[in-house]
Amino acid sequence: MQAGTGDGAALQVSNVTVRFEGLTAIDSVEESVAPGEILGLIGPNGAGKTTLVNVMTGFQIPTEGDVLLDGESVSGVKPHALRHRGVARTFQAGRLFREMSVVENVEVAGVGMGLRRTTAHAEAMELLDWIGLADRANVLAGALPYTDERRVGIARALIQSPKYILLDEPAAGMSDLECDDLMGLVKQVRDRFGCGVVLIEHNMRVVMGISERIHVLDSGRTIARGNPTEVQANPAVIEAYLGKG
Ligand SMILES: Nc1ncnc2c1ncn2[C@@H]1O[C@H](COP(=O)(O)OP(=O)(O)OP(=O)(O)O)[C@@H](O)[C@H]1O
Ligand SMILES: [Mg+2]
Repeated sequence: MQAGTGDGAALQVSNVTVRFEGLTAIDSVEESVAPGEILGLIGPNGAGKTTLVNVMTGFQIPTEGDVLLDGESVSGVKPHALRHRGVARTFQAGRLFREMSVVENVEVAGVGMGLRRTTAHAEAMELLDWIGLADRANVLAGALPYTDERRVGIARALIQSPKYILLDEPAAGMSDLECDDLMGLVKQVRDRFGCGVVLIEHNMRVVMGISERIHVLDSGRTIARGNPTEVQANPAVIEAYLGKG
């Protein structure tokens, strides 16, 4: 069931546990995402979704277990170094530079990747154009509606074409329509860049619609893995979502 194992490329967590002073945020979790694949990561609040994404992007060193990038252990490798190796992410809370323009926000991500300013600017403009925000390029990021803010966050992550992109609740707070629109973009990201996508998303309809595989966490533990049909029919998932209201 593990996509990308064997000799294929993958971003993988192997038997990962994360403990915070007595609290086990992630408990013996196995998962992997291959380039070109969309993996949905779901679970109730506090389930450990962000912590798992933090582990996969170098922001959290696992207490136990290993993180592998294309078969090589990258446990302890810093986020910035992993970003250079093609692992990009967005954050649950905005994190745009509000006093900078939209294009500058994307540009600095490129400069952070070692691009010259002019190259970063050109790549940023191309991404904004592709994402449909070229006409907002010179607007202050702080003045954007949150739907556009999330798109800029994704553009920042797409600088230098990552191989893996991890999106932490990019559609949080959006209406069904806005959400569908953003998921259209996520699919286009996968199609254009061929990257593996890990998508944290609360809306079951949405995540089931876009993901090839789903991983369900509850209190740090894996309660189900599989394709959307399998996961939806899983009693433990129904219990976690409906049982706890
Ligand atoms: N740095 C930390 N120190 C201590 N506890 C933490 C830390 N980060 C997360 N936790 C705890 O770990 C558990 C998992 O948190 P996490 O943020 O990964 O959940 P989540 O599934 O992303 O939740 P949400 O849907 O609310 O974003 C929670 O109980 C949280 O309080
Ligand atoms: Mg979270």
